[in-house]
Amino acid sequence: MWCYPKVIAHRGGGTLAPENTLAAMRCGFARGFRAVEFDVMLSADSVPVLMHDPQFGRTVPGHGRVCDTSAQQLARMDAGSWLGPQFAGEPVPTYEQVVHYCKANNIWMNVEIKPAPGHERETGRVVAQWTQRLFAAELAAYRAGGNDRTLPLFSSFSFDALAEAQDAAPQIPRGWLVDAIPPDWRERLSELAAVALHTNHKNLLPERVQAVRQAGYGLFCYTVNTPERARELLGWGVDAFCTDRIDLIGPDFS
Ligand code: G3P
Ligand code: MG
Repeated sequence: MWCYPKVIAHRGGGTLAPENTLAAMRCGFARGFRAVEFDVMLSADSVPVLMHDPQFGRTVPGHGRVCDTSAQQLARMDAGSWLGPQFAGEPVPTYEQVVHYCKANNIWMNVEIKPAPGHERETGRVVAQWTQRLFAAELAAYRAGGNDRTLPLFSSFSFDALAEAQDAAPQIPRGWLVDAIPPDWRERLSELAAVALHTNHKNLLPERVQAVRQAGYGLFCYTVNTPERARELLGWGVDAFCTDRIDLIGPDFS
């Protein structure tokens, strides 16, 4: 069952700030959000950084691939100007920097493991290992009987990345991310010992919501950008969703 927040700021600050940056985290926080989703990819030197696209050109100017670029080089790149001059010079943050910011501000994290093509297993393993280190105190408290809302929730479209994360950090919970729910969802969730299914709301049918929840899993939808649709999905029994429109849908939306 879902024990996490209901409304989650997508990529940190939705459309209001450059995605997957510290400016985005600050923006979501300023709007009252205490729950974020962000994407994590590996640099050339295997440092987890926040990034959605495997290649430059959209949020970072220029050409080239994240997996061929070191974390130090990424830290000097401009991941903010594409959205507006007020964000110029906003760097690509490391996962570690963002975890520190979120923990310091009591923000819950849905960490989407976003491997560059061909790097699925390595990304799952490395992100899980970093997470074990960054959340060592929370994991110790959890093992001693604490609650797991202090831990992040991994998700990924890559089953292999999640399987690797399960192996490396079994106590960090996992949600499998799918564009459309496949017929073998029960088996796949069971293999991952997942706590939730994350899916595109556009392909979701109300009867599926009930089946997933009755099977004991949380159901999370991406990316819900109108209050009307958010209300409809919650009415179907969806547990949580992320949104780009943190200006229209607040953290306490119901
Ligand atoms: O984690 C939900 C959502 O972020 C998945 O899609 O492409 O926006 O990372 P994407
Ligand atoms: Mg994402």
